Amino acid sequence: MVDLHVLTAADWPLWREARIAALTDAPDAFKSALADWEKGGREQWRARLDIPGSHNVVALRDGLPVGMVRGVPAGADTSELRSLWVSPEARGEGVGDRLVETVASWALRSGSTTLKLAVIPGNQPAIALYRRSGFVITEEPGNFLPDGVTREQVMAKRLR
Ligand SMILES: CC(C)(COP(=O)(O)OP(=O)(O)OC[C@H]1O[C@@H](n2cnc3c(N)ncnc32)[C@H](O)[C@@H]1OP(=O)(O)O)[C@@H](O)C(=O)NCCC(=O)NCCS
Repeated sequence: MVDLHVLTAADWPLWREARIAALTDAPDAFKSALADWEKGGREQWRARLDIPGSHNVVALRDGLPVGMVRGVPAGADTSELRSLWVSPEARGEGVGDRLVETVASWALRSGSTTLKLAVIPGNQPAIALYRRSGFVITEEPGNFLPDGVTREQVMAKRLR
């Protein structure tokens, strides 16, 4: 049984545990590097969760984090989904779908009409999940990856 837990700033140790596990497990899936985060102190982690209007969720099984996702405001009518990760032992059970759905519901409640995200090209499991959840690839140019050549792929979903 996996429960989704909405975090407050006081839950930063849980967010740190999940984020370090994600960056260790799937370094190629994220633009952030483990090295940028693992030495971060309390204030750096709290600041992440304190971004006004952000929605941070960890999936827990037996009290241990097995997944995470966050939503952040990204303009007047747009929210952005970030940091999606499910631990290898919890994959294929629909946890990823549930995490995407919870951010889509939050974005709708926040008044957004569009939910967007950036994915590293070639991350087929993530792209397949996002397509299944109603996201389509957009023409918007994503940020450059550290190689300075490849760009993230921007996907978006109309919420209403
Ligand atoms: C991408 C990722 C989040 C998917 O997480 P997940 O929990 O496995 O996703 P889901 O279970 O919702 O869906 C994955 C598959 O399981 C299947 N599935 C869903 N519910 C299921 C269930 N109850 N039983 C068996 N399979 C199920 C889905 O149909 C899907 O199959 P498919 O990809 O072959 O079509 C995960 O692989 C991950 O964390 N990857 C590394 C980090 C990453 O890439 N993050 C995205 C950054 S943009």
